[in-house]
Amino acid sequence: MQIVIRSTDKLRGPKALDLNPVLSALLAAARETSTDLARLRVVGDWVQYRQNFREPVDARLICPSAAASARAYRAGLEADADSEAATEGAGAGLEIGVDLRRAASADLADLFRRALNGGAGGQQRDGCRLYLEDWKAESAGCIWAFNALYWRALGLWEQATGNEYEQALPKGESDARNVAAAQELILELFRVWDDLAAQQALPEDLYVLELGVGNGNQARVWLDEFLRLDRERHGGAYYRRLHYLMGDYSPHVLERARANVSSHAEHVSSLVLDARSLTQTLRFLSAKAFLIYISNVYDNLPTDEIVRLGGHLFRVEVRAFIAGATAERLAAEIGVAPSALPDLAGRLLHLGPALLAEAAADRFHGDPLAAVALWRALWEALRLEERYVPIEELDTYEVAPGISGEILRPIVEANGDLRMHVSNGAAASFADSMPLLHPFGVLQCHDLFVTEIDQYQSGFRGPGKYDGSVVNWVNGPLLAAIGRRRGFDVQIRRFAHRSGSNVLTLTARVRE
Ligand SMILES: C[S@@+](CC[C@H](N)C(=O)[O-])C[C@H]1O[C@@H](n2cnc3c(N)ncnc32)[C@H](O)[C@@H]1O
Repeated sequence: MQIVIRSTDKLRGPKALDLNPVLSALLAAARETSTDLARLRVVGDWVQYRQNFREPVDARLICPSAAASARAYRAGLEADADSEAATEGAGAGLEIGVDLRRAASADLADLFRRALNGGAGGQQRDGCRLYLEDWKAESAGCIWAFNALYWRALGLWEQATGNEYEQALPKGESDARNVAAAQELILELFRVWDDLAAQQALPEDLYVLELGVGNGNQARVWLDEFLRLDRERHGGAYYRRLHYLMGDYSPHVLERARANVSSHAEHVSSLVLDARSLTQTLRFLSAKAFLIYISNVYDNLPTDEIVRLGGHLFRVEVRAFIAGATAERLAAEIGVAPSALPDLAGRLLHLGPALLAEAAADRFHGDPLAAVALWRALWEALRLEERYVPIEELDTYEVAPGISGEILRPIVEANGDLRMHVSNGAAASFADSMPLLHPFGVLQCHDLFVTEIDQYQSGFRGPGKYDGSVVNWVNGPLLAAIGRRRGFDVQIRRFAHRSGSNVLTLTARVRE
């Protein structure tokens, strides 16, 4: 039996975590269970997001590889030719996840007993959960449809909560509106443009692309500063040639951002696009963008996690559920049977709260805010069941279009057993941004980055919930590897204009 404690920083200091109750409850439950303890792992995390998708104790099936499964199956048949139970889940292991932050207030004895006695595959028989989907790759799970809905219907969510989305970001506001950071970037652009102009190599149209624009505060700060500095230095000549492109997948968000930069309207275009597949929409921009600017977006793009155990690789699959008692309460509030909730959730994700309120007028009386109330309650109650499914060959796993899982090999082989994010959405976006950059262009991204793979061993990196959206730290070493292979120099540094923030700044430029 293997016990792994991440978040080691919580084990020392005046507020050191007392692991004794956790370990004694675990060992007591282990004494009573018939689960094969040699195939049991217990992992303690400190889940720092108060809103997240985990229970205080979770059971994760570790599915055997095809070969291990066949071996165990044969052995089971030989041992007991008549017993189906002997071969069910053959060769599988079990991981018990414990959220150490919530452990002290949980009934651990009971939770461990249930997790262990459910055993491998036991959760599939758990009648106390209402599932919203079948098993899926993490990046394809319905939490991402909830995330997209949040941006699509942000106005209604904010109206219901009375909070703007920025309040949920680290430190309560986006670094995107930091004036000093905008000035630094603009002055760097001016230097590049002045040099190109001196060599008569500066194109007439000067393109800047921002991805994931939110409320448009970054665009406004940037454009205001650009105009001011350009008037001071060039009499406004660059501003006259500037095209600021705002890209976002939410038409609602784009509309708000457009209103925010209305004084620069002649220089701004807004484009509905998916940040993960840019060249589809922006082919005209190939090798023309002098700046691609992204803040707090990569951590909001779908991602898988992979796990390495004893040299074998797995991907995390998820299945969203709501606890049975919560489902009963929510269903009673709107007068439906609990079994109707998955369909209602699907319609909510498809139609959005305003249309759902009309389509199901008997439940919501045409009031969009009543549908938002259900949305918020579902989101709060949403949990993910997880299992580990073998990746038989790395090259059969795709990180992003055109990026084979082989790119992960040096990272996973150099770092022993681990669980880490693949940041598939960020990888796709990053790789598809590079063809758009002018040879003297720069991509700049402020976000939550893991910079050393070790950080996955010592802390929880997501998924967490920010209000109605999802957050996962971004795998910096993987993005750097993707950039390097395409001839880009990738740096990740502390965000220079605010201290005490977890936000880092990634820059990518063509390698000289
Ligand atoms: C957390 S907000 C960040 C807004 C702003 N950049 C800031 O720093 O405040 C994330 C933004 O990314 C957008 N977004 C999320 N996923 C996207 C995708 N796949 N394609 C395009 N935009 C996306 C959302 O609509 C939202 O505007």
